[in-house]
Amino acid sequence: MLVSGQTLLDEAVRGGYAIGSFNTYNLEITRAILAAAEARRSAVFLAVGSGALDYGGFAPLTQLVLAAAREATVPVAVHLDHSPTVADCERCLSEGFTSLMIDGSNLPFDENVALTWQTVKRAGEIPVEGELGGVGGDEDSSGAQETAIPMTDPAQARAFVEQTGVASLAIAIGNAHGIYKGEPKLDFDRLAALRDAVPAPLVLHGASGLSDDDLRRAISLGVRKINVNTEIRQTLFGSLDRSLEQGVKGYDVTRLFGVAMEAMQRTVEEKIEVFSGSPSFSS
Ligand code: G3H
Ligand code: ZN
Repeated sequence: MLVSGQTLLDEAVRGGYAIGSFNTYNLEITRAILAAAEARRSAVFLAVGSGALDYGGFAPLTQLVLAAAREATVPVAVHLDHSPTVADCERCLSEGFTSLMIDGSNLPFDENVALTWQTVKRAGEIPVEGELGGVGGDEDSSGAQETAIPMTDPAQARAFVEQTGVASLAIAIGNAHGIYKGEPKLDFDRLAALRDAVPAPLVLHGASGLSDDDLRRAISLGVRKINVNTEIRQTLFGSLDRSLEQGVKGYDVTRLFGVAMEAMQRTVEEKIEVFSGSPSFSS
């Protein structure tokens, strides 16, 4: 069922766990994410970024994800990921998206505040995620990434949330999109300070490549939404590579993509298990 992202955030805050946000580009990834959520009886954010909308076509892809979310037997928020403009947010709002992210993180603080505040005002009841600090890397392709610089400053983050009214805040604590160059090193002291300073749930982007222990520790320190994209794509490509190498009898599309969907479902299920399990680290 299609629900507001606010409902999912509220429940995650109440329950002390993180909701998974998984990026989709097409029918197969969408079905795999929702099959995983249903198998685990877990709510999810089904996230679509600008690159995906360009690739899939705005109407076909938005209608696909919304229809799939409505049909799901678990709560699903359909989320616009890393939107650079208010206009894109408005377009998705009128289509029926139930969660938005406006990403002004590359702008000076005041401009980021202005852009984000405008989006929050326009979104009304629909929750808006803002971002402060630098999460490096590209959302749609995954070359090796340096970890993010600059990291989010706790006092500035508090001011950002108070001035914009965002429902959640994406933070930079050494996380990056795509494949990490070397061992990722999250700044957990900074995360604890952010949790104490920021009056909104914290969001961790760039979760692909982070260890389960790091993810659990981040949850124990206040992260309530975790975004995963690259690992799903890695699973998809790995599965297609194997199938094509072995050969798929009769050029059977349902077999080629069916196997890939099962593999992606497993990847998403593993993440959901980590995100909603009891944190093994105390704050
Ligand atoms: O917004 C999407 C996420 O931050 C995905 O990051 O590709 O490193 O998993 P990832
Ligand atoms: Zn992201």
